[in-house]
Parts: sequence; structure tokens; C-alpha cells
Amino acid sequence: MHPDNPFRPGSGKPPHLAGRKDELDAMMGLVNAALAGKPRHQDGAIYGPRGCGKTALLHTIKDRIPDIARHVLLTPSDLKNEDDVEAQILKSLGARALSRLLPEETEINVQVLRGVWKRQGIEFSDKRGEIAAHTKKHPFILLLDEAHKLPLNVYEKLVHESLALRAVGACVTFILAGKPQLTSMGTRAGVSFSERFLHQDIGLLSQESTSEALVVPFGREGIGISGAVLQALFEDTHGYAYYVQLWGEGLWEFCREHSLRHIDVQAVDSIQPSVRRERERAYQERYSAWTGEDLHLFERINQQLRAMDGLPSKRRLEQMIETELKAQRRTPHSFSDIYHKMVESDYVWQRIGNRSVTFCIPSFSDFIEANRSGVAA
Ligand SMILES: Nc1ncnc2c1ncn2[C@@H]1O[C@H](COP(=O)(O)OP(=O)(O)OP(=O)(O)O)[C@@H](O)[C@H]1O
Ligand SMILES: [Mg+2]
Repeated sequence: MHPDNPFRPGSGKPPHLAGRKDELDAMMGLVNAALAGKPRHQDGAIYGPRGCGKTALLHTIKDRIPDIARHVLLTPSDLKNEDDVEAQILKSLGARALSRLLPEETEINVQVLRGVWKRQGIEFSDKRGEIAAHTKKHPFILLLDEAHKLPLNVYEKLVHESLALRAVGACVTFILAGKPQLTSMGTRAGVSFSERFLHQDIGLLSQESTSEALVVPFGREGIGISGAVLQALFEDTHGYAYYVQLWGEGLWEFCREHSLRHIDVQAVDSIQPSVRRERERAYQERYSAWTGEDLHLFERINQQLRAMDGLPSKRRLEQMIETELKAQRRTPHSFSDIYHKMVESDYVWQRIGNRSVTFCIPSFSDFIEANRSGVAA
């Protein structure tokens, strides 16, 4: 058995990307259109709760981009202000493009280039045509992770730049990934951009994909997994990608230590305590964001949702929050702040086009109920 454990929970590079065919096809459709010289009018926005696989999907897209194209994978720390958007685009286009945009300059450097432009009174917008010509030979794909953390003005600039470049014929596509708050950034920036994006939600894995995420990497080592184990692991993880990786990591170590060729229920029982501890730690971290009256409200809403037959619409949930705020003699207008806090805590989220909200991971609701103030854990 290979000494290096390929399961690294949270790394964004799983030993095998299970499922996600439709999600990948949707985003690769945008990429391939740009590669074919006919970019679509939309950029991509991958959104979903923490730990569901947004980064893993971005890495897979990146790996599928052929060498002929230019591409870059950024995070918000690369885009602190609006100028960084232009600088990153220029930098990503590569030295050859920069030299062609500024033939007389010997040192090819974004800062130098922009300094010279400034002295000559040239704006980035004046150069879009030349950039577009370059991308016809070398299409440009910009991938941005954690996009929900972008300052709103930078988000607006990024979306604007993608549109402006395509408007002059550039073969570019931007793909953003972030938590569900990403979908409302256009509205919050004061500009409606939602129709500019092809949105792709990323939620829990199906039962089949959950099994595949474990069966394929262990299969490479000649290790089998019983059907009963796969069923138990799906019930335990609900298809939450991060937990599936946690189980994989633990089972891998167990197989190595005991030279196992087959994973049975006994192996699961042995490592369950450590997986549970890690999960409790993750939930505790999310739960500790709630204190005082907010915590009390959160626990009451959780109880009400658990008693319901299916989760309500976002509007209904906000009304429930409003009622609880009134009962606490607090300003009922803050219902949407509380709803957003629930989304930020990875408690609930909403897919575009779905009326009802969804639990991010159903077992977080169980954790809240078990740890409710005054109730023993
Ligand atoms: N389709 C998949 N099959 C198997 N493992 C996956 C899959 N998607 C993600 N994973 C694994 O699950 C874990 C969480 O995935 P990832 O880090 O991509 O989530 P994320 O949505 O980017 O989370 P965050 O919001 O915290 O950035 C990682 O260890 C990743 O390798
Ligand atoms: Mg991520």
C-alpha cells in the first residue's frame, strides 16, 4: 500500500473527483466555447456551502484547460483593489502578449507597463482591442476561488472587465466559485449582474458518488469495501464531500496499520470516534458564532424546522425569524441579517430557482438540537 495517504480533507484535490459530471459539463461548456473562439455571453458562478467541493471542481476545470490557452487561478488576496483586476489580466496573458502591447519596452513587467501607459496617458480600456486580438490565438480563462470574499467594487470591476473584453471580441471566460452569498453579490453591489452568470450549485454528493469517492482510490490499491460499509458511510456523511474525505483518510491509515485488503464494518467502528471528534469540532466552530439572544433564536428556529415536514421557503423562514425577534422584543427588521448569518454558518442555503431552503448538512441540525442550551450534549 502506498505510504502517502491520498485523502487530505480540505485540500481541494481529492484522490478521485466523484460524480459532478453535469456540473463540470456546464462549466466546461463555457470554457470550451471560449477555446473555440466563440465565447458565450455569460461567465460561470459555482456556489455552495463550505466543504461541498467548489475548489475541487475549479482545480479539475483548470487541469482540463489545454496549453494553448492562458489561464490563472486566483483568490481574493490577488485582487485587493480594482487596479489588481487589470494587473492580473495583463500578467496572466504572459510575457509575449505584454511585449507586443508595448514593443519598445525591454523589461516585461506589469508595473513597468502600467507606469509607461500612465505617462503616455493610455488607459487599460485603450488596450482591450489588442488584448482581444491576443486572446484569439490564446484564449484566456480566469478562475477565482472564494469569490464571495471579494470587495464589492472589485467584484463589479471583474464582471465589467469580462463583459468589456468580450464586447471587443476577446475569447475570455471567467469562472468564479464561492459560498451561496456569491449569488447576491451583484444585487449588493448595486448592479444586477445575475443574468450575466451561468450559475452552478454544488451541494451534497449522491449515494453513488459518495461510494465512488472511496471505492476508486481504495480500488487502486486492491482494497475492497463491503456494501454494508458504503451504505453506513453514506448515512453517516449524507454525501458531504469533506466528511467523505475524513472517512477515507482514517480508513486508509487503518488499512495500512493492519495490512487489510478489505474494509468491513469492524474497520468503520474502529475509526468512528476520531471522525466524530473532528465533525464535532467543525460544528462547534460554526455554532460558536452564535451567542446571546441570537443563539436562543437560532435554537428555537432549528427546533421548529425539525418539526416541519420539509423545509420552508426563504420568505417563510424569514417570517419565522421575524416572529421570534418580536417575541424577544427586538427589532423585527433584522430578520434578513439573521437569515444571512444562518447561511454564513453553513446551516441552510438556497439554490437559485428553488423556493425552499435546504440544510447544508443535516447532521449540523442534530448537533444544535443535542447541544441546545440546558440540554446535555
Ligand atoms: N466530487 C468529489 N469527490 C470526492 N472528493 C471531493 C469531491 N469534491 C470535493 N471533494 C473533497 O472534499 C473536501 C472539500 O472540498 P473543497 O475543499 O473543494 O470544498 P469547498 O466547497 O471548496 O469548501 P470551502 O467552502 O471550505 O472552500 C476536499 O478534501 C476535497 O478534496
Ligand atoms: Mg474551497
